[in-house]
Amino acid sequence: MDSILVTGNGALSGEIPIAGAKNTCLKLMCAALLTEDPLTLTNVPRLSDVTTLSTLLESLGCEVALLQNGHAMVLSAAEIKSRVAHYDIVRKLRASFNVLGPLIGRCGEAVVSLPGGCAIGARKVDLHLDALEKMGAEIELKEGYVHAAAPRGLRGARIDFPFVSVGATENTLCAAVLAKGTTVIRNAAREPDTVALAECLQAMGAQIDGAGTGEIVVDGVDQLHGTTHRVIADRIELGTYMIAPAIAGGSVELIGGERRLVGALADKLEEAGIEVGDTSRGLTVRRGNAPVKAVDVATAPFPGFPTDLQAQMMALMCTAEGTSVLEETIFENRFMHAPELIRMGAEIDVHGGHATVTGVERLKGAPVMATDLRASVSLILAGLAAEGETVVSRVYHLDRGYERLEEKLRGCGALVERVEAA
Ligand code: UD1
Repeated sequence: MDSILVTGNGALSGEIPIAGAKNTCLKLMCAALLTEDPLTLTNVPRLSDVTTLSTLLESLGCEVALLQNGHAMVLSAAEIKSRVAHYDIVRKLRASFNVLGPLIGRCGEAVVSLPGGCAIGARKVDLHLDALEKMGAEIELKEGYVHAAAPRGLRGARIDFPFVSVGATENTLCAAVLAKGTTVIRNAAREPDTVALAECLQAMGAQIDGAGTGEIVVDGVDQLHGTTHRVIADRIELGTYMIAPAIAGGSVELIGGERRLVGALADKLEEAGIEVGDTSRGLTVRRGNAPVKAVDVATAPFPGFPTDLQAQMMALMCTAEGTSVLEETIFENRFMHAPELIRMGAEIDVHGGHATVTGVERLKGAPVMATDLRASVSLILAGLAAEGETVVSRVYHLDRGYERLEEKLRGCGALVERVEAA
């Protein structure tokens, strides 16, 4: 299996283009099932998660054509040939559970594998199913699959989520756009990905109000049509590369970055003594000569600090001056990067949903591995600031979510290379 070799060599300098957002793109791809017409997506990131979801959509009868070297795609679901999303694919990519809303919305029937547990926690789907039941679907769980049926179509309903779920909000939104009547989603996710999905659905003819607020109102329509939609910049890739100069020193311009996408991180970086500024092309992040100060972070739904940047922030705090407490409130098992960072010399004490990090002067390179995407990238970031060589194995995690990672970091002077397995 390939690995990534990182040799810490000081300050970064240069620019990094930010790709289209993985988590937005995947949900937009699922929405293509809602119409017979083609949906064209541009600024598509070239990632293995996108390929995996394409395979699932093709198995349902949706044609997927790549254009512009994979940076654009046309999805045509003229006819839904299968309503079954198999375990083989759904277990690999949790976002594929989001074919459920579009399938039941358009066909009145869907059989979708439960995603199963994953490395970062139980990740339940009860809220998705409760919402569909409120909209009139009959749901049965059989042999690991969700069987959902609404032979006479879904009807609008009032959905009060007990807490914010991005996946459940998006699945409900997709189910509601073709339902009869009005659906009100309360405690809705406000993530930019969810807003982008709503905007794309609106361009396809859906009637949606309130996206980006805690209450989304959907008036069902009879059918949707095709459109062309540009995927927004990936806020997690952006945040990851904002942390790179913070940890290694230097200054990097993030082309296509926007502060509104990463406000909570930008605020925390500034509190830690890192400069974040706007440029005509994006954002710039600069670390001066002063040491980075320890700051406390608690993850929360948007606009709070993203759970998907918690591991990277922990890497930064490992060499900060002082002690910081990182609290993970979204997923119950999302500190697997801590033991690996400890192998690199970090001082971290994990207790329940908290990790206390006491900054050390210098991390030391080590062979490490991680069990999820964001944990893997946090080890690469740590390697940039470490003395000597860090070898991060299981790089397939990185290929799920970071396009040309080595190239982008190398463009700023980092020593990062992929080592192919013999
Ligand atoms: C989560 C993140 C999202 C991120 C994505 C990819 C939040 C709120 N969500 O979205 O920003 O882009 O991971 O890593 O930060 N839950 C239930 N029952 C359900 C659905 C969810 O109990 O039916 C729980 C989950 O276990 C979790 C919380 O709700 O503790 C939030 O989950 P949710 O937002 O649905 O997760 P994702 O959609 O994967």
